[in-house]
Amino acid sequence: MKVIKSKIETLLSETNYSHDLLLQYLCTAQYLYSYVPERIVRLFADKLDIPPAKILGVVDFYAFLHREARGDFDIMFSDSITDRMLGNQALIDKLCMKLGVELGKPRNDERVTIDVTSCTGICDQGPALLVNGMVVSNLDDTRIDLIGDLVESSTPICDWPEAFFVVEDNIQRSDMLLSDDIAHGAAIQSLINDGSSTFLETLEQSGLRGRGGAGFSTATKWRLCRNAQADERYVVCNADEGEPGTFKDRVLLNSYADNVFEGMTLCGGAVGAEKGYVYLRGEYRYLLEDLEETLQKRRDANLLGNNILGEEGFNFDIDIHLGAGAYICGEESALLESLSGKRGIPRDRPPFPVTSGFRQKPTIVNNVETFLAAAKIAVFGAKWFNSIGSEKSSGTKLLSISGDCSRPGIYEYPFGVSISQILDDCGAIDTQAVQVAGAAGETIPAAEFGRKISFEDLSTAGSIMVFNQQRDLLDMVQNFSQFFCHESCGFCTPCRVGGTLMRNLVEKVAAGHATSYDLDEMKNIGLVMQKTAHCGLGATAANPVLNTLNKFPDIYTTRLAHTGYEPAFNLDASLEISRQITGRDDEGAHIRDE
Ligand SMILES: Cc1cc2nc3c(=O)[nH]c(=O)nc-3n(C[C@H](O)[C@H](O)[C@H](O)COP(=O)(O)O)c2cc1C
Ligand code: SF4
Repeated sequence: MKVIKSKIETLLSETNYSHDLLLQYLCTAQYLYSYVPERIVRLFADKLDIPPAKILGVVDFYAFLHREARGDFDIMFSDSITDRMLGNQALIDKLCMKLGVELGKPRNDERVTIDVTSCTGICDQGPALLVNGMVVSNLDDTRIDLIGDLVESSTPICDWPEAFFVVEDNIQRSDMLLSDDIAHGAAIQSLINDGSSTFLETLEQSGLRGRGGAGFSTATKWRLCRNAQADERYVVCNADEGEPGTFKDRVLLNSYADNVFEGMTLCGGAVGAEKGYVYLRGEYRYLLEDLEETLQKRRDANLLGNNILGEEGFNFDIDIHLGAGAYICGEESALLESLSGKRGIPRDRPPFPVTSGFRQKPTIVNNVETFLAAAKIAVFGAKWFNSIGSEKSSGTKLLSISGDCSRPGIYEYPFGVSISQILDDCGAIDTQAVQVAGAAGETIPAAEFGRKISFEDLSTAGSIMVFNQQRDLLDMVQNFSQFFCHESCGFCTPCRVGGTLMRNLVEKVAAGHATSYDLDEMKNIGLVMQKTAHCGLGATAANPVLNTLNKFPDIYTTRLAHTGYEPAFNLDASLEISRQITGRDDEGAHIRDE
C-alpha cells in the first residue's frame, strides 16, 4: 500500500498539483486501490489545498469512484435495454449466485463486487461487463462460469483468456469517412498551405454540422472561437459517448484515432488553440494505452508539439482525460466542469464554450466524428463532402445499430437514408419499433419507417435500437426512465424530482396499478420537465414516456387497473415483509379494497 501511495505522490508532483487534474488523480486512486481511501482524500486535500468535503463531493458524484473497497475484481454488468434483451439479467443472477455476492455490495472477503452500470457502448456485442475497467463482451453461460472460477482462484486479469477481451469494430457499411483514408498530416498540411480563413470558408461550404446530436454548424463554431478575444483557446474532443445504444466513437477511437487527432490539430491551427483534450468516457479506459501510443507517434512525427510540420508558431498538443461513469458529462458545459476536476454540473448558458469554456477561455467542443469529418474535408474539399447527403445535412452519418437484427454494428450512410432501408440492411424482420437517438430520442412505429435520418427529419448522434413484435416496449420505457433517474445530476428540481416521479409512475403502470389519472399525470410531469429543466438531460428525459404514450398508447392502456384514481402507495403490498416475519397470511393480515 505504501508503494501505491508513493506512486500517487509522484503523480501529484510530476503534474504540479493541478486542481484541474483532481478527477484524474481520483481515477488513479480508484484504479490502484479499488476505491478512494479516506487517507488518500486527506492527502489530496493537503497537497492541493482543497477541503476534504469538496473532494468527497467529487467522489460521490461519479459512479466509478467509491468510498468503500470494491475488492480485487470490480465487475460491472452493462444494463442497457439491449443487454437486457440479450439476457443479461439471468447472467447477473448466475454470477452473483456462483460467487455468493449480493448485487452492489462488496463480498466480505473483499475479493469481488458485482454491480450494474448504464450502457457501456458494447451493444453490438452484448451482453457485456467491465472487470477492473476491461470489457468482456459476448457473455454467455460458459463465460460466466469461467469468470466465476477465475475470480475464486484469484487469477489476475492479465491471465484471463484473451478472447474475453476482444471487442470487434463490427463495421458493416463504410462510406466516405470510413473508407477514403488520408495520409498522416495531410489535413494539417492543407491548412498550412491555404491558411485559416480559406480553410474555414471550405468548412462552411461543406455544410458540416456537429455529429454529437445538436447539429450546430461546425464552421460557425470554429469562427466564433477564433474571433473571440483571448490569450488562450482550447480544443476538446467529446468522447463521452454515453447515449444508450451509441458505440460509433468507440470504433473511431479504436481504428481511426489518427484521423480524429488530425482533426483536433487542424482545429487548433484554425482557431488559434495550443492545447487539446480528449474527454474519454471511463467505460473506454481500455482504449487509453493505444490512444496514448498514437499520440506519442504523432509527436515523434512532428504532427503534435511545437512548430508542427515545420510551420513556425504552429504549436498544439493533446492530453486525454478520463471520465468516471457520468452520462451528464457528455453535455458540453458539464464536460468542461469535469475536465476541470469538478462535479459535472451543467453551467448556465450563455456564455457558450466558444467564448467561455475550459478555464473560462474560448473552447471548441466537438464530437469525435465531427473532428474526423473536418480532417477529411480539409484534404478532399467541400464538394467531395456536400455532394452526398440531403439539403440541410451534407455528408454521411455513422449509425450504431443494435437490438433485434441479425447484423448489428456500425453502418455509415449518406444522410437521407430511410429507416426501412436501415432495417433491410441490418437484417431486422418483424420490427415493431425503432428507437432513434437513444434514450432521449424518438420511438418510431412501423407506419413511419419511411422517415429519414437527417437534421431535417430524424436527427441522431448515431443510436438505432431495433425492437421486434415480441418485445414489450414498456420494458424499454422502464429501462430508460430508470437510466434518467440514475443519471440526473440532481442540480435542478424538474429533473431530479420529475424524473423520479416519472420512473415511479412507469413502474406503477408495469405493476398494473395505474389508472388513466396516472397517464395524465405522466404527461403533465413530462411537459414541466421539457419546459423547465436546466439542461438537455432533463429536457429530454421524459421523451420515452411522452413518445410512447403518443405512438404506442396500448402498452399503457391495456395495463390500467381502472379509469379512476389509485394511490401510488400500495398499503397491502407494503405489509408483505411483516407477513413473512410473523408467518401470518390470513385474511386479517391483509388490507383489502372495499
Ligand atoms: C445529456 C447530454 C449528453 C450528451 N452526450 C454527448 C456525448 O456523449 N458526445 C457528444 O459528442 N455530444 C454529447 N452531447 C452534446 C454536447 O453537449 C455537444 O452539443 C456536442 O459535443 C458538440 O459537438 P458537435 O457540435 O460536434 O456535435 C450531449 C448533450 C446532452 C444534453
Ligand atoms: S436537467 Fe437534470 S442533469 Fe440537467 S442540470 Fe438539471 S438535474 Fe442536472
